[in-house]
Amino acid sequence: MCGIIVRAGVGDALGELLTGLRNLEYRGYDSAGVALRRNDGEIVVCKREGETDALEADLDSDRLSGSVGIGHTRWSTHGAPSDANAHPHTDGSNRVAVVHNGIIRNYETLRRELRDRGHEFTSETDTEVIPHLVADALDAGIDPETAFRSAIDRIEGSYAIAMVVDGREEVYATRRGSPLVLGVGETANYLASDVPAFLEFTDRVVYLEDDDVVVVDAEGYQISDVAGDPIERTVETVDWDAGDARKGVYNHFMRKEIDEQPVSLRQTINGRIEGGKSVLSEFPQGSLADVDEVIFVACGTSYHAGMYGCTLLRRRGIPATAVPANEFAHEPMPVTDRTLVIAVTQSGETADTLASLRAANSSPARTLAVTNVVGSTAAREANDALFIRAGPEIGVAATKTFSSQVAAIALLADRLEDDGAGQSAGWSTAEETDRSADQIDRSVSTTATKNREGANGRTGGGDRAENDGQTAYDNGDVSELRALPDHVETVVGDGNAARLATQYADADSYFFIGRGVGYPVALEGALKFKEITYEHAEGFAAGELKHGPLALVTPATVVVAIFTGRNDERTLHNIREAQSRGAPVIGIGPESATDVREKVDEYLSYPDVGPNLAGILANVHLQLLAYHAAEIRDRAIDKPRNLAKSVTVE
Ligand code: AGP
Repeated sequence: MCGIIVRAGVGDALGELLTGLRNLEYRGYDSAGVALRRNDGEIVVCKREGETDALEADLDSDRLSGSVGIGHTRWSTHGAPSDANAHPHTDGSNRVAVVHNGIIRNYETLRRELRDRGHEFTSETDTEVIPHLVADALDAGIDPETAFRSAIDRIEGSYAIAMVVDGREEVYATRRGSPLVLGVGETANYLASDVPAFLEFTDRVVYLEDDDVVVVDAEGYQISDVAGDPIERTVETVDWDAGDARKGVYNHFMRKEIDEQPVSLRQTINGRIEGGKSVLSEFPQGSLADVDEVIFVACGTSYHAGMYGCTLLRRRGIPATAVPANEFAHEPMPVTDRTLVIAVTQSGETADTLASLRAANSSPARTLAVTNVVGSTAAREANDALFIRAGPEIGVAATKTFSSQVAAIALLADRLEDDGAGQSAGWSTAEETDRSADQIDRSVSTTATKNREGANGRTGGGDRAENDGQTAYDNGDVSELRALPDHVETVVGDGNAARLATQYADADSYFFIGRGVGYPVALEGALKFKEITYEHAEGFAAGELKHGPLALVTPATVVVAIFTGRNDERTLHNIREAQSRGAPVIGIGPESATDVREKVDEYLSYPDVGPNLAGILANVHLQLLAYHAAEIRDRAIDKPRNLAKSVTVE
């Protein structure tokens, strides 16, 4: 994690560096620092433990004047959060200053070697070896660019690095395994870990590749490869709006991003549905016909979106599994050339997810990145990319990107089914049913659709077919997605989650249960709740409650149960088990589910929608519940303790 910002241009750099740091705080906020090259050539450094505000409070802007500078916001890996461990790091004499995002694996060896040669270190970080290596090369009479390259040659690990050298107007930078984007402006050029850092100054970007070395100054930039040969890279214009990356009237990005979901969902589905079918320009007809099974690999919220996607695919008769990315990367997972491995990642830079993607890329499997960030490492390394188009998400707690990930996967599920994915292997369902085998085929999904309309009389229909023994593959209808943004708007405008957050603020624990798509939503609800409230929260498959967790249920345990209009009767059994131990139950379910509403202690409703998409709406209530519970506790909602938005270390 950590965020890097570089500015080389006309006029003073400090203000833009601070803006860049604030825009990057979602990547880490343990400390912040800047190094400026003053107009007399001297390098001055200021760095502080804490957020950018703490740094700014201590800045001597007269001393820190200069048109070229580098900045860093840190998420600690090597060494505790402190002034000394804050970046930039120098060679001790302020000839060289360096900012770094990533991990240098061989830093202990390099440190010993440098110490033996008389170098003194002032921090516990891995980064500090870099300026010392560069200083050694400069002492040997080598020019700064070659000195930079020679230092990079010596380090092993993952990194994005930027360096300033006294007396030089250029900034030297490179990346391997950690993100670095070049921003091409009118009066200044920028480098940053992510586009929002400089989006207020330019929307023209160059996505750098691993091992690119870039030298940037006020006039322009040169990119070259490890051998020093020039490389041309395309300048792209990003369509994110700078306002998207600002808080505006909101107190927190998280709340802004919850409210943005109707818009972000519209962006996700826009132009991707025609005649009730999904049309993805990334996947022309027939292009997915050779897929037998899908494996989702992802972390955190994205993993929950992958789990949700599994259920959507299985309901269409396509075998699917979701595996935590780090497990997939380091445990054998059988695949064939008919396996599609889908890496779900908002940032496209999560190290665990990239490790799993690389493991899949080195297997016969085909790979796809479902991501929010064009130009991200995942988008570039996977065989294909499907962009969720949610716009920048700054709050550490993922909200709008979960909804957009699920919506994008729902579209993909339709395309996969249309291409006949999963059919050739002759899979059968393991669902409990009294139907004969020949009923378990795709023709039954038509029956299911009819059942939904007939049995429930709801718009879009909830599949209650299992209640009359008619459960079948439930392919839903992607047209339902069109109404989703309006439905989300209704939920966002509902004040009941805020009321319940206050009402149950004194509970000891918060349990979240659900089944089908409600299961990943329960896990996601618990993750969001613990992440920003710091309260004990756990998610379970509803049927699992009685297999252990029930021992923890007391009147001080709030149980939040997700109902999706499918198998709700079974979840009602589970809540009774909790209620009989005195636990209050908050149900979240469809407006018209009076049977559920009557049996829970509190009810958060969402507009009636089919059971495939119901989880997205239930999840918006859970986002609001977590948000308000954190607000009551006065938590750092956008920057929860110990966490960072993008986890770029394994
Ligand atoms: C959840 O609120 C977190 N921000 C976290 O779980 C996140 O989803 C995870 O780290 C994966 O990030 P990615 O989607 O950028 O890969």
